[in-house]
Amino acid sequence: MSVQPLTSVNHFLDLTDVPSEILHGMLQNAHKMKNSKFTPAQIFSGLSLAMVFDKRSTRTRMSFEVAMKQLGGHTIPMNMSEIQLTGAENIEDTAQVLSRYVDAVMIRMSDHDTLVQLAKHSSIPVINGLTDWSHPCQIMADIMTIEEKLGDIKGKTVAWFGDYNNVTRSFGHAAEIFGFDLVLGLPEELHSKVDISANQVTADASAAAKNADVIVTDTWESMGQEGKSLDMFRPYQVNSALMANAADHAIFMHCMPIHREDEVTNEVLASKQCVIYDEAENRLHAQKAILAWCLANAGVQIQQTFDFAA
Ligand code: CP
Repeated sequence: MSVQPLTSVNHFLDLTDVPSEILHGMLQNAHKMKNSKFTPAQIFSGLSLAMVFDKRSTRTRMSFEVAMKQLGGHTIPMNMSEIQLTGAENIEDTAQVLSRYVDAVMIRMSDHDTLVQLAKHSSIPVINGLTDWSHPCQIMADIMTIEEKLGDIKGKTVAWFGDYNNVTRSFGHAAEIFGFDLVLGLPEELHSKVDISANQVTADASAAAKNADVIVTDTWESMGQEGKSLDMFRPYQVNSALMANAADHAIFMHCMPIHREDEVTNEVLASKQCVIYDEAENRLHAQKAILAWCLANAGVQIQQTFDFAA
């Protein structure tokens, strides 16, 4: 599913496509950008980002839009149904034409292969704003949040509960790159779907949570899956009993949106361990760092205020 770069364009499609030292450097820059939140360098001055969505979004849309605008750039948000790609126009023509108007495209679409094709035919960076396959932008913000709360993520244990989805897969990609342990507490029925190298995959939720530094879950019904049976997920609800198995300093994370009292209880969400709003805010800072790297090699002149070395 990954794309080999055909050009020198800095696409951000999956964590596995980007050199590890670049990802580490991006995170350093995300922390720096958060610290300079109220005096941002205008490094995107004159640059434009097209944002295309075939699904709902609050955090991805807002964070990319604010990231571009706080740093002097522009955004053009569009629903997928508003562009000709959903009519007669093919991917190559769409990619070629967008490349003549804007400096980068962030796109949320179900089909990851279409995203890869769009990138292949684009001479500007294409950023994965979530596909059914992966959600790399979310995981950059998540790692930033873990580093903020617990220090270096290397050697930490992240325990994931419930469904196996695009966010889980990107956590799996990140685990290898950033050197943390990933434990999956999933219903037995989903174990055969696991296509990442997790340290442990177990149907025993308590065992999965044991001594974990981070407890994380996601909705049991991703967009487009509404109405499916949730029964097999019930033993994987993150509640106070499950959290009690984790390390004393453990934090709770969720990329949002949340279905309260399904995958996580209100009690956990109200606890001091819950860092979901910091996690959501960090989408903004991580997005700035991702955009800065993507735009650096896109053939446009921007002032490189930040060093991307690890
Ligand atoms: N977590 C996340 O991607 O949120 P949105 O769907 O609101 O963008």
